[in-house]
Amino acid sequence: MKKRPKMQLVMQMGSGYGLDQGAWRMPNADPAAYMNIDVLVELAKIAERGKIQMIFFADTPALTADISNQPPITPMDPIILLTALARETKQIGLITTLSTTFNYPYNVARQLKALDVISNGRIGVNFVTTSHPGAAVNFRDRIPGRQERYHQAHEFIQIVQALWGSWEEDALILDVKNGKFADMDKIRPINMTGDYLTSKGPLPIPPSEQGQPVIFTAGGGDEGLKIAGRYASGVYANPYDIESSRIYREMVRSSAKHFGRDPDEVKVIPGIIPSIASNKEEALERRRQLDRNIDLRGRVQYLGTMIGIPLSFEQIDLPVQEELLKYAYANPQDPRSSRALELVKEGMTIRDVLAHGVINYHPVIVGTAEEVADFMEEWFVKGACDGFAIQPDVSFDGIRDFVDQVVPILQERGLFHDDYEGTTLRDHMEISYQYGLSKEI
Ligand SMILES: Cc1cc2nc3c(=O)[nH]c(=O)nc-3n(C[C@H](O)[C@H](O)[C@H](O)COP(=O)(O)O)c2cc1C
Repeated sequence: MKKRPKMQLVMQMGSGYGLDQGAWRMPNADPAAYMNIDVLVELAKIAERGKIQMIFFADTPALTADISNQPPITPMDPIILLTALARETKQIGLITTLSTTFNYPYNVARQLKALDVISNGRIGVNFVTTSHPGAAVNFRDRIPGRQERYHQAHEFIQIVQALWGSWEEDALILDVKNGKFADMDKIRPINMTGDYLTSKGPLPIPPSEQGQPVIFTAGGGDEGLKIAGRYASGVYANPYDIESSRIYREMVRSSAKHFGRDPDEVKVIPGIIPSIASNKEEALERRRQLDRNIDLRGRVQYLGTMIGIPLSFEQIDLPVQEELLKYAYANPQDPRSSRALELVKEGMTIRDVLAHGVINYHPVIVGTAEEVADFMEEWFVKGACDGFAIQPDVSFDGIRDFVDQVVPILQERGLFHDDYEGTTLRDHMEISYQYGLSKEI
């Protein structure tokens, strides 16, 4: 039987602070990290020291949050930041999210391929079919419907891949003696025209060390699964428990098979949020401190919706009253509700229930490095994922603590590699070389 590859680890960079909205106000934070490339370089180098396979930016082309009391969620511009990081790091893979709804494939193909060449084959891209209304109005007058966005995404990715493959691999000659730079018979237009997008090509860029950038996707539903199965080598996902993650991974794998691909070539990578400290109580106190940095009114109200009873902010430091608890139930609309209800029933204060991270976008692990490693091992061993996208609550110490404390435990347990497998992102991910279009079935 084929040996299962080790865990893929992705370090999420966000906008420089960490996942938690209150991270920018922590004592060890740089409140100007959003603008400070030196902070990002330092964090990326720490991740590289820990042999993390890649760093990752989520992105939406819009200012999506009210930033009166918190920083933006996504970076100033990920392509610009990756260009700097490509020069300042040597081995780690570099991935950004880009929208197939609000971009031209030629621009995207060109920038990513150039980055892949200058980084010696370390670039990946997470293609998303952005549906954020704030992004839509920056480009056109409406959000395209779901079908249109996905149809366009197929055209977009195929054009990008074809442009990437528009030079034959030996087109570049560089023969100084005979004055031959490149063989134009091996650099050809792609002449692709779809219903929404068109491009003639070719690109002005030769192959990179890994051929071309690695494609990730993130998105929901049947259409998202088709995109993942057909083109993706990595899928960033947001399941909340082992069983739903395992089922999702199986669906991605069978979609890959359907498109004639080896399912092991597609890594399913859910996000997790570690809050690490030397014991559980300290980790909880870290989260209480983060919560004190933000206005919790909305979260208290939402927790009430999750457990089906009204909760008041004034009672945040009290447990939920017995007589109200009788009416509580786990709201089936939100998969995080049963865990929230369980904690409320233990009799802890509303503040402490929130400190356990019951309302975050990904599962939160509040505890020691050992407990974080246990969580990761269980998901991985049970086939729920091929790795994790780590989003530390606070980047400034969270990335360092993950690398220095959790990585050695994972290595000792044989779950995570001791060193990079090679030089390119494809080497790190143990996936095949690819050049040009994904094969058709
Ligand atoms: C885990 C995950 C991460 C996502 N990250 C982004 C992102 O960084 N930027 C973005 O514009 N959209 C992002 N999306 C949104 C998807 O591209 C898509 O628009 C969304 O899932 C809406 O669903 P639909 O496209 O199926 O209607 C993400 C979706 C998921 C599930």
